Amino acid sequence: MATSIALTLFDTDPAELAVDAVVIGVHSPGDGGADGEPGELLLASGAESIAAAFDGKLGPTLALLGATGAAGEVTKLAALGAITAPLVVAVGLGPEPTGAAPAAETLRRAAGNAARALSGTAAVAFALPLSDDDSVPSTPSLRAVAEGAQLGAYRFAGYKSKPQPSRREPVGAISILVADAKDAAAAAELDRAAIVAAAVYRTRTWVNTPANELRPPVLADQIAVAATDAGLEVEVLDEKALREGGYGGILAVGEGSEAKPRLVRLAYRPAGVDDPVKIALIGKGITFDTGGVSIKPSQGMWEMKTDMAGAAAVASTMIAVAALKPGVAVDAYIPIAENMVSGSAYRPGDVVTMRGGKRVEVLNTDAEGRMILADAITRACEESPKYLLETSTLTGGQVIALGKKISGLMGTESLLARLKTAGDSVGEQAWPMPLPDDIRKTMESDVADILQVSAGMERSGHMLQGGIFLREFVADGVDWAHIDIAGPSFSSGEASGYLTKGGTGVPVRTLLALIDDVAENG
Ligand code: BES
Ligand code: MN
Ligand code: ZN
Repeated sequence: MATSIALTLFDTDPAELAVDAVVIGVHSPGDGGADGEPGELLLASGAESIAAAFDGKLGPTLALLGATGAAGEVTKLAALGAITAPLVVAVGLGPEPTGAAPAAETLRRAAGNAARALSGTAAVAFALPLSDDDSVPSTPSLRAVAEGAQLGAYRFAGYKSKPQPSRREPVGAISILVADAKDAAAAAELDRAAIVAAAVYRTRTWVNTPANELRPPVLADQIAVAATDAGLEVEVLDEKALREGGYGGILAVGEGSEAKPRLVRLAYRPAGVDDPVKIALIGKGITFDTGGVSIKPSQGMWEMKTDMAGAAAVASTMIAVAALKPGVAVDAYIPIAENMVSGSAYRPGDVVTMRGGKRVEVLNTDAEGRMILADAITRACEESPKYLLETSTLTGGQVIALGKKISGLMGTESLLARLKTAGDSVGEQAWPMPLPDDIRKTMESDVADILQVSAGMERSGHMLQGGIFLREFVADGVDWAHIDIAGPSFSSGEASGYLTKGGTGVPVRTLLALIDDVAENG
């Protein structure tokens, strides 16, 4: 499932490179100065030798073809012998930045747009404006181009029973123009980008896989096999082990399905680090969410095959961690269940005894994510992590409040600030949300320790109810965050930038950036 795209660096003349296409950047002109005439299209750095080969006609010709330099734009120009490659592809980078290079996210998206536009092309060279002194040090522009190009080239194999002649293969090989192709730091960035892209690919593919192909024991097995191959420590609790361990939340949700629930634990330990900082990752693995007895409307229910996006992201992040080898200890707990309707399904009104003994009164079987996550959080806290990061497609309220692109963050304030910074640095936006006391008050149960949702299934503060419920299970002193990815984990619209239609891989790159931050700063 890893990327099959060959990644290389080059520092030779892009005009003389034997590839199938060369990608250059173009900036939109400024406001044209005093005479009010629009300025000329600006070629970005990296394009100099190609511009020279076109005898000064490259900018005007691209403009003639409609290029304006706006971000998101892709303009193809046949080279007709002017350079070695047969095709020049100009990607819009917006106005020329005042600093040395465009923002990382601008480059990442432009590279993704180019890679998508070039499917069917075997070898592509990227000659985009890079800089060493990027304003966000954790995401140098080389990393952004390498990531964006690979992520844009993702394709889900799918299940068509006949070959599709019109369907073009993703880009096969990517090379990127740098100042010095032998530079060790640049090579390290490229290696990292390949590992990160493989993790995003793996997440997208799991998310895109239909629920009949990925029932709980199957997803648990696939994670176990991939994690074992990566050199991680792996433990899978089956139904019997879950019962012995008192995992009442995972069992209750899994009860309605013939495919029984699992809890996967993965562990990474750094070599040669005494007493490393410990991070726990938790991801929601509902392989399909019918809502259970509190059944969902059938319109759009198919999308609930993506309700294991948190599990997919956490498992893939762990596999990347095993390759990146940061100096921190990371444990993952991945609860997996199928939320079905049947004679054995759990009911509204049930009181469930969770791992650790807390009693939860269920009001809505469709709030199943928090039931399986609470058990996993309790288990994770038994190992006393310093940080606990949980991610889940938890609430439709996240999509209402923040939309399809911005994840909701709830938890310890200082950790949320770090997560938001990590997310911004990789182009995965997230926004901190509060956990108000008055909403906690609406979750008092008459018969148990806590209601699973607000009394009367009150919808107000919907996303926050999820965070408040999960907080009950986090041990004192653990810095924690809940990342609600209900919207951002899946892109139902058209592909754009480096996002392809379907699973997005959010929040894999945020988690990896935060792990780096902890490895560096504790
Ligand atoms: N998996 C859903 C949340 C979801 C909604 C994910 C849309 C992706 C897109 C979750 O299990 C759910 O059903 N949440 C309910 C909670 C409610 C019953 C308290 C919801 O959002 O309505
Ligand atoms: Mn649900
Ligand atoms: Zn769900």
